[in-house]
This record gives sequence, structure tokens and C-alpha cells, in this order.
Amino acid sequence: MPKKAQLFLDKHFKIAKTDQRIYGSFIEHLGRAIYTGIFEPDHPQADTEGFREDVMALIKELEVPIVRYPGGNFVSGYNWEDSVGPVAKRPVRLELAWRSLETNEFGLNEFISWARKVGAAPMVAINLGTRGVDAARNIIEYTNHPGGSYWSDLRREHGYEKPHMIKTWCLGNEMDGPWQIGHKTAEEYGRLAAETAKAMRQVDPDIELVVCGSSSFQMPTFADWEATVLSHTYDYVDYISLHQYLGNRENNLANYLAETVQVDEFIKAVIAVCDYVKARKKSNKTIYLSFDEWNVWFHSNEQDKQIEPWTKAPRLLEDIYTFEDALVVGLFLITLLKHADRIRIACLAQLVNVIAPIMTSAGGGVRKQTIYYPYYHASKYGRGTVLRPEILSPVYDTDRYKKVNLVEAIGVLSEDEPEMTIFAVNRCQDSPIELECNLNNMGNFELIEHLVLEHDDMKAANTEEDPDRVKPHNQGRTLVKSNRVLAELPALSWNVVRLRLY
Ligand code: AHR
Repeated sequence: MPKKAQLFLDKHFKIAKTDQRIYGSFIEHLGRAIYTGIFEPDHPQADTEGFREDVMALIKELEVPIVRYPGGNFVSGYNWEDSVGPVAKRPVRLELAWRSLETNEFGLNEFISWARKVGAAPMVAINLGTRGVDAARNIIEYTNHPGGSYWSDLRREHGYEKPHMIKTWCLGNEMDGPWQIGHKTAEEYGRLAAETAKAMRQVDPDIELVVCGSSSFQMPTFADWEATVLSHTYDYVDYISLHQYLGNRENNLANYLAETVQVDEFIKAVIAVCDYVKARKKSNKTIYLSFDEWNVWFHSNEQDKQIEPWTKAPRLLEDIYTFEDALVVGLFLITLLKHADRIRIACLAQLVNVIAPIMTSAGGGVRKQTIYYPYYHASKYGRGTVLRPEILSPVYDTDRYKKVNLVEAIGVLSEDEPEMTIFAVNRCQDSPIELECNLNNMGNFELIEHLVLEHDDMKAANTEEDPDRVKPHNQGRTLVKSNRVLAELPALSWNVVRLRLY
């Protein structure tokens, strides 16, 4: 007998309409993300600005709505002025976060231009490590003020007549982390972030600001950090950030697949702290979440220790993702969707070459990593109204997690088409699971397609030699009878069941 699970969805039981920015991503001045990643002027497929068109084509396919830039840890040593103006005059710097050489050939204006070309909104982080209020007020005058002042006129001199009008800004990066250049206590950072936010809003009141939360749920200061930082910044910011990377370090698949349970707890805890500060302040305002770094990151940790310092674009953080990583990324996406009412922005970290769904060869081609596919499916079919899932699933225990659902699933009702998509992961290692979906108050359905990502080898990866070893097929088995949908979820699989309503 196959195992069975049940999913109950009702069109009246909604979590929220998705903010499309939950399918955002991130490009840092790190390794080959920029140089030989998105920017390679002498590549045969480079456009007139040196941007790789083959890479842009995949980013457009992913429909990435927002890209965070320029870091990451990099931003805490960033002198934004180095990265604008005539390229020949830009300084080469020792970049301390990743101990690389930064040539500044690609800078702030190039990023904005690139982001516009790929159809993504820019999300720019400012340096609150080595710098502060002064540099922040200047960069926003440069990017967002129309003209007639020192910094805005400098932008015009640099060839950008119209202001960039960058809407979303991050107040530093991972300031709770001892590894951060200019690391601060929550009190120090909270005060600085509040004053910086006030100054930036004086220049442009229409911006949105993200204040730094914890770098992961394992941080010893987690939760106290959020409470203290928000107690200083609550009235001046819109979002608090979360960062989390997962990895199968112990080669224990059962534990690895359950790690997103902890991500779910992390999100709930951050919401609780936000609302605690809201209550303490008797505020009417709600702080939303920006999960602006999330992914799997562990494969490259050892090899990165061998990298020569002070070189340009070293091969840092080049994780080659396996099939099991794609399942975890799928589970992470379902977890984000479950909190669509509070998560407004999320950035898969990162986008190209550095812990990324897209890999390039310098002078050569481009390929899709395994994690590309769940990200692509969710971005393409996961926009609309997220329905509150009730799941009855068999469970499993690991040495670290108890009663983990073998099936995770979520349904998203499209706003544009009479369509609904169910995303589901089967965590079971030895058997398919028949998922019975009871879909209430939505009318009748017919199947458009059932996409499946599955593989016999959990460690299978897409390499330069074998770029299509792991890719989805559309032969998934789903039976639809009016409002009952029976989907067969193969053992260890990511599933996208696309339904048309009539
Ligand atoms: O994304 C890689 C790094 O991870 C970022 O620079 C930093 O913010 C985080 O620790």
C-alpha cells in the first residue's frame, strides 16, 4: 500500500497575496558573481556595457523581481564613491571581507543599468561597518535626488541625467556577526541605524528601509538582538532582515531535509519579537520581514580555505549543488510562502557563480544548477494568493527533529489566470506518497501539468561536462476528479501540480 497524505485548501482561507519580491536574489562583489559572472566585457556574448547576455537571459527566465547589492559582508568596507565616475580613475582596493582585489570596474551605476536590463528592482545596502550617516546621506543624494546639489550633479556628470530612484535600502549587513567589518553590539547598531534611517529619509521620504536582524537563528544574540535593534529603529524602518544558510554537513539526509522546520520556527520567532516591540511601543505600525539571504551553503567551505588572497574574482563560494540541495531549496520556498503575510522580500543568495543557481565559465557557457529549478517554478507559478494549507501527513523522527511531516505542500491561486499551483515535497526516502488534495469553494479543476524533479542519486549535480543531469520532467502522475486531486509524489521529489479552474 502506498503511503497517503491529505492536503485541504479552501479559497476563503488565505494567508496573503504574495509580494513578488519574495523571489528576489542577491549579487555581491564576491568571487566571480560580477567579474566573469554577470560582467565580462570581452566575452563573445557581452553587450555594449559588458553584461553577459547569456546570463541575463537566464535571469529573465527566472523573472527575478529584485536584486540586493553590493553585499553582503563586502558592503561593510565599501566606499561607494570608488565605484562611480570614469572607470580609469576608479581605485583598486584591498577588499577585506573576502580578502580579494576589488578593481571597481563594475560599480553602482553599472549595477543599476544591469538591474534595469534584467527587469529587477535594485535593493542597495549601505555601509554601516566602517562608515555611517554621512556616507549614507551622500549616496542617496547621488542616486535619488534629481539635481542641483553636489552629489546629484556629480551623478549627472557621470552620464546619468535622471535619478535612479532606488526605493529599497538595507541599513548595513549582518552587523551582529563578529566576522563583520565594524561589527557592533545591538545598542550601538540600533542607534546608528536609527540615525542613518532618519537622515536618508530626509533626502527621500519615499524609500523603504531594512534593518539588520540576526545572521542566523544559531546566533547567540538572536532574539535579544532583534528586540534591542527594533526598540531603537521601530519608527524609522519597514523591514527586519533574516539570513539563514542550510547544509548537509553530516551527510544525514533525514536531518538535512528537516532543517526547514527550524527555518519555520525562526520566522515565527522574528514575527513574535516584532510584535512584542509593537505592543511595547503601543504602535499601529507592523514591521515586515526581509529574508534577504537564504540558500544552501556548505560544499565550498573547505576549498575556500585554499584560495590565494588578494586576487581579482577568485573562485570563492562556488558550491556545486546536488539533487538533495534542490529538495531543500524547494522546502525553503514552501516555508517562505507559508509566511507570505509577513515576508515581503526574500533573496536567494546568491544569483551567479557564488552559491548560485546559475554558473558560468569565463569566456564560455552558462549552466543551470539543480537549485535553479525549484526557484524557477516558484517564481513562475507561485505568484498570487497563498492558501492556508492543512496537511495530514505521515511523520518521521530524526535524532534532531521529531514528528516531521513527510509531505510539505502549499497552494497558490493565480491572480491573473484561472489557475492554481500546488507545490509539494515528499521527504520520504523509500516510498512514493499519494497526496489527496481537497480543494473547497473553488469550482472544478483540470490538470495542466505535473512537473517533477526527482533523481536516483541524491548527490547528482549539473556539471560543465553533464549540465542536464538533474532537470524536471512533466510526466508526474496526477488524477483530477472535479475538486479532488490525487497526486503521486515520488519518493524524494519536488512537485509542481498546475491546475486550471473551470
Ligand atoms: O552570501 C555570502 C555571505 O553570507 C554574505 O556576504 C554575508 O552577508 C553572509 O554571511
